[in-house]
Amino acid sequence: MNSLILGTGAYVPKRILTNADLERMVDTSDTWVVERTGIRERRVVEPGQACSDLAVEAAQHALIAADVAPSEIDLILLATCTGDSPLPSTACLIQHRLGAKRAAACDISAACCGFIYALAIADAYVKNGMRHVLVIGSEVMSAITDWTDRNTCVLFGDGAGAVVVGQGTEGSGILSTHLHANGGLSDMIQVPGGGSREPASEQVLQGKRCFIKMKGNETFKIAVKSMEEATKEALDANKLHMDDVDLFIPHQANMRILNAVSQRLGLAREKLMINLDRFGNTSAASIPLALDQAVREGRIHKGSVVLLAAFGAGLTWASAVVRW
Ligand code: ACO
Repeated sequence: MNSLILGTGAYVPKRILTNADLERMVDTSDTWVVERTGIRERRVVEPGQACSDLAVEAAQHALIAADVAPSEIDLILLATCTGDSPLPSTACLIQHRLGAKRAAACDISAACCGFIYALAIADAYVKNGMRHVLVIGSEVMSAITDWTDRNTCVLFGDGAGAVVVGQGTEGSGILSTHLHANGGLSDMIQVPGGGSREPASEQVLQGKRCFIKMKGNETFKIAVKSMEEATKEALDANKLHMDDVDLFIPHQANMRILNAVSQRLGLAREKLMINLDRFGNTSAASIPLALDQAVREGRIHKGSVVLLAAFGAGLTWASAVVRW
């Protein structure tokens, strides 16, 4: 038995923050942001809108697309690093709001790789006989962004994407997943404060240690290498060549990273899914958001080979191959 993606869904907040808006907030320019990142605009939540609000919308779209009722879900996995609060898990809030009474629920924390990590767990459970797993990537990155730091505030956005994973036949569905981590490089991308090491305090707030800090330039080089490595590993495991891939959906961090990875892999431009120009880096939401867009735009058909690859804080890197 194999696990199949039965349906996809996505949701982004309505509020658009353009590079021109950022020019009024920090010392930056549209030209710099577009040239260095490819990002033109991103979505940000309204005050009071949280991770679960975006996730529930995306999940409902995915359930409709999959023709699966909330009562049929066995497990809800939410990939996020920006849950509604530290306790309880945001997945439990989503379970209640969806009315998925039978479902177990928990959050998965693997930053930008969170969706692929959660997909891999869903795949394992379904292969073991579970009927339906709802996998969601939802992030409110604007909540952990220092809006006075031009090095990071131009990069991130808010959004959510979801898939329903169910049972399929051998030869189709999720063909492989590969997950990696290297905690030795945890200081590359981190939110240092607000956890048990540096609990929330006046000091944490004043030092802006509850916001994302990133060694952008060093991360960039590792990102290119890791994404290439994860992709090659996925191809080798399935005895596939890049030519066999119909659509490559990488984590949407930076256009220059995607260009460099594509070049190293010899990927044709038309096979590269890009939406970071409109949404920025939405961390764990980035891949399911792009996947849903690709499905709805008709870029993925029955039989299409789709390769997912991500890289992010941890450090973590991961890939998955899906035959639609
Ligand atoms: N506007 C104008 N100038 C800026 C801005 C900005 N928004 N940000 C930085 N600069 C300046 C810097 O201060 C620096 O100036 P200096 O030379 O006078 O010191 C100059 O631009 C170059 O800075 P770099 O950091 O070297 O710029 P780089 O070309 O590396 O681009 C970026 C920065 C976009 C952050 C890039 O390094 C990147 O995308 N890195 C990878 C990010 C990533 O993939 N993260 C993983 C996922 S995130 C997650 O897991 C949550």
